[in-house]
Amino acid sequence: MRIDIITVLPELLKSPFEASILKRAIEKGLVEIHFHNLRDYTNKSYNQVDDYQFGGGAGMVMMIEPIDACISKLREERTYDEIIYMTPDGETLNQNTANQLSLKENIIILCGHYKGVDQRVRDHFITKEISIGDYVLSGGELGAAVLCDTIIRLIPGVLGNETSALTDSFQDNLLAPPIYTRPSEYKGWKVPDVLLGGNFPEIEKWREEEAYKRTKQRRPDLLNDQEED
Ligand code: ADE
Repeated sequence: MRIDIITVLPELLKSPFEASILKRAIEKGLVEIHFHNLRDYTNKSYNQVDDYQFGGGAGMVMMIEPIDACISKLREERTYDEIIYMTPDGETLNQNTANQLSLKENIIILCGHYKGVDQRVRDHFITKEISIGDYVLSGGELGAAVLCDTIIRLIPGVLGNETSALTDSFQDNLLAPPIYTRPSEYKGWKVPDVLLGGNFPEIEKWREEEAYKRTKQRRPDLLNDQEED
């Protein structure tokens, strides 16, 4: 998989890809990440990429020309499955979207800044708009990092133990059950007996019940979603 990220602040985005699982995924050749600084695609003085809003109002708007120049250059080189714009008014990111995107070959992620991008960018280039939650970030970069992390860890071969992504919270619309490690007793606080007994069908049943209980208590909306599917 290849991800091209278009941004005015590439330095804000680099470190998540330089450590741990994402770094290893890149080193293993399972994913390629390319950063494109939008300022390299402007022919205006001072590498300007934004301008005042038509009609007045506070806040600058990212201009269409450098975005078009960057996207068009990338599209000349390969075809893209999705061109994603990170924005608080996009569809809220969830595990289902991450699963779907992890199957793609090539995607572009455009990070918004200031008030956002000229609407014509959204109308004519963008195929998907994603928000990482109902709050406003200073720019799309941190959202893009979150999106990349959710996608990349799902690519086969990225996680050491193939099954571990399948047992994450939200796969199957359920939260993950409680987990424990050694010691089996700490300050009198005990690990549930069932986990120590080695009866795997019983352990599996306990985990399913606990996952359901936790989901019902904390996120009943997920159970309702399942009924609607
Ligand atoms: N840009 C600003 N806020 C955002 C959000 N919540 N999600 C994605 N991109 C954003």
